Amino acid sequence: FAAPLLQGQKILLTAGPTREAIDPVRYISNHSSGKMGFALASAAASMGATVTLVSGPVTLPTPTGVQRIDVESAQQMFDAVMAHLPEQQIFIGCAAVADYRAATPAASKIKKSQDTMQLQLVRNPDILATVAAQTPKPFTVGFAAETHDLEQYALDKLQRKHLDMIAANDVSVAGLGFNADDNALKVFTKDGCHELPATDKLSLANQLLTLIANYKN
Ligand code: C5P
Repeated sequence: FAAPLLQGQKILLTAGPTREAIDPVRYISNHSSGKMGFALASAAASMGATVTLVSGPVTLPTPTGVQRIDVESAQQMFDAVMAHLPEQQIFIGCAAVADYRAATPAASKIKKSQDTMQLQLVRNPDILATVAAQTPKPFTVGFAAETHDLEQYALDKLQRKHLDMIAANDVSVAGLGFNADDNALKVFTKDGCHELPATDKLSLANQLLTLIANYKN
């Protein structure tokens, strides 16, 4: 009988949102539930991989057999990914990483005074692009959540971030993608596109990992 498809492979994944502190009680974040990344971690473990999952704040149980590292901010996620990157064969960036953080988070709670206030933001490091720029680099897979011009943005990210594969999902479709139990993906490599039609995230995770395993070899 055949060995599991990802037997002996080490896979590192990011999942969930990040939280960027404004002061000790407030943060900037997004609606990512972490479901897609956790489904991928679970499916990868079932397929025989050694799985490390770096997760932002989510309310999901840790999949069986998965090593989970909890972080809050994009910088913490970056540091955890870089610390665990050596010896990984596959990296999948599924997290919805905040693009910006507060330039100087306040040390104590900000009190209200004026009718308007300004918050200075600075760019966060791009975890996925940094991983893809390493030598040697793991097989690097990104996600692209878009509301329009899906294919164009996905192909642009594939090239600009030097990815091996990108899984694009249309977050403007109700019931799919962000925070939903189902999703549909268009998966691009430099050689073409595979469509994975709408289904539950665990089935989709199995299909995406099968594509990765086959394409990688
Ligand atoms: O450019 P954009 O943020 O849309 O790219 C999305 C992809 O990049 C996702 O795979 C996401 O996990 C990753 N990303 C990252 N670090 C960032 C921003 C995005 O790893 N700071």
